Amino acid sequence: MERLQKLLARAGLGSRRSCEELIRAGRVTVNGVRVEELGAKADAGDDIRVDGRRIRLPESHAYLVLNKPPGYVTTRDDPQGRPTVMDLVPQQFRSHVFPVGRLDRDTTGLLLLTDDGDLTQRLLHPRHHIPKEYLADVEGTPSETQLRKLRSGIELQDGPTQPAEVMLVATGGGESRLRVTITEGRNRQVRRMFHAIGHPVRRLKRVAMGPLRLGELSLGEVRPLSRGQLAALREAVGLPPGVEAR
Ligand code: URA
Repeated sequence: MERLQKLLARAGLGSRRSCEELIRAGRVTVNGVRVEELGAKADAGDDIRVDGRRIRLPESHAYLVLNKPPGYVTTRDDPQGRPTVMDLVPQQFRSHVFPVGRLDRDTTGLLLLTDDGDLTQRLLHPRHHIPKEYLADVEGTPSETQLRKLRSGIELQDGPTQPAEVMLVATGGGESRLRVTITEGRNRQVRRMFHAIGHPVRRLKRVAMGPLRLGELSLGEVRPLSRGQLAALREAVGLPPGVEAR
């Protein structure tokens, strides 16, 4: 059991002080009963509502960001016994978190892992168009005409791609670096897009997914999402920052 204002604050409804105001104002119910006592306690499993909307405690799920190194397979279990991203996840999370989407074995960068199935489904659902941003090092230097093809959508074996944002960042040493943002999550999509214009990808790194950025995380490092990052991610898929959707 915990003090109600503490649970409300943990659910992202404001500071403990402002959550006390919500209780005093008679806006909070626990298991269907209005609570106006500041000393009241409740359990994380109780049905706690503010203005009739059920609160959601983010700490009840685990959310981790990994900077995936090359050579790791994005799966919970590899039948071929290769190293998997789960090998990089701290022991206490291993039994329940799973990767959100997939990065190829040799792709590096931002990978979210969680046990929140609802958020995962929403992030992967095409309806939400979550942008995924990559840095791609490709062979040679694609021309503007070729880049325009990628921007407007290009025909791949499994159908045309949606328009992508593509920007040439640097060239040198027989290769070029491009910043690419796509909203789909098709298998090996970025690699296939550049292959289709004759400039195969040499290295690929995901630097952002929706509002989440890789930031300063070093290769192989795992960090829990901050409360602010989680709230931003929830908003990106149409969920209120700390309150369960009805
Ligand atoms: N596109 C790819 O080609 N590979 C990835 O790992 C991610 C996006």
